[in-house]
Amino acid sequence: EMASKEGYSHFMLKEIHEQPMALRNTLAGIERDEVTKIGAELADARHIFITASGTSLHAGLIGDYLLTTVAGADVHTFTSSEYRKYMKTAGEGDVAIVVSQSGETIDALLALRALKSAGVKVIAISNVMDSAIPRESHLAIYTRTGPEIGVAATKTFTAQLMVLTILAMSAAAARGYVNDDEAAYFMNEMEQVPDVVQATLANNEAKIKRVAASISRASSMYYLGRGLGLPISMEGALKMKEVAYIHAEAYPAGESKHGPIALVEKSFPVLFTIFNDEYGEAMEGNIMEMKARDAYAIGVIPKSLEERLDKVLDIAIPIGVEEPAIATIAYSVPMQLLAYYTAVARGLDPDKPRNLAKTVTVE
Ligand code: G6P
Repeated sequence: EMASKEGYSHFMLKEIHEQPMALRNTLAGIERDEVTKIGAELADARHIFITASGTSLHAGLIGDYLLTTVAGADVHTFTSSEYRKYMKTAGEGDVAIVVSQSGETIDALLALRALKSAGVKVIAISNVMDSAIPRESHLAIYTRTGPEIGVAATKTFTAQLMVLTILAMSAAAARGYVNDDEAAYFMNEMEQVPDVVQATLANNEAKIKRVAASISRASSMYYLGRGLGLPISMEGALKMKEVAYIHAEAYPAGESKHGPIALVEKSFPVLFTIFNDEYGEAMEGNIMEMKARDAYAIGVIPKSLEERLDKVLDIAIPIGVEEPAIATIAYSVPMQLLAYYTAVARGLDPDKPRNLAKTVTVE
């Protein structure tokens, strides 16, 4: 076991650090022709359904946001165990994307089968070649991260984001919302992502370890975001719950004043996910609201807003990529590190979280 951890104290940390390579391999394995074909199918779909569980669902929600906002598609994303809700609306002319790292999650498999028998065309995104979900789908596209051992998904999540983002851009291009130059610019930016992730790891790990030490004494925290920042917050909060056993809740930042803020008092940790997008100012307002209650405000922010937000945040974690659709990948890295180091600070083993299984094969 020691050997396969390659000197890292846990698989989770090793896999967090493997992300530059996992993303490079995933990008190299994506066939342009296939992406164009799937993009056209998504562009023509009557409805798009995205279904998954756990971390894969959060990747799906990023796909949903981009397919809706950039490609103008009608997207419905749901946790696989709730597929029955859609059985009257799903049918011929619809496309479903089933996201599953393992390709074996029973909830996702049952949703897939139901959608398929309703006449929906199913595309699988998985990390395991020829597992049940890709096998039963009409089409499969793979993340190529190598096996993931840590129960809490890390490298497979960012690779799923990469695949879904590329598919959404391809659908936007097929619909004429993105021209050739924009598509080329986008792919060029995507090619930089592994290096950005590498730099994010190198520049922030020590700082995050310090933040984790303060968070480790908290019993509860919030993750707030808007737009793409919401699914990234949801995934950050899930990681914190899974490995550090801290009650972490994600909310659309605009909802925080409709209830959640009642819990906030001195030193309550609130993590803000802020992109270089139209939500920047509203997010700054949300930071002020939380600071007015003496919260401990951490922000994962774009470098371009560092000077401005440094004044209002207790801790700023600047990320060196500005294009929000691409930044989601790099932004996930500090969230993973924060959950990991908080678990370690609490004396827990992040590789073996209690009550959780890597792959859930019961309904
Ligand atoms: C379990 C794991 C999660 C994972 C989820 C979905 O709950 O503990 O880490 O995200 O299953 O797994 P899948 O293999 O379908 O992506």
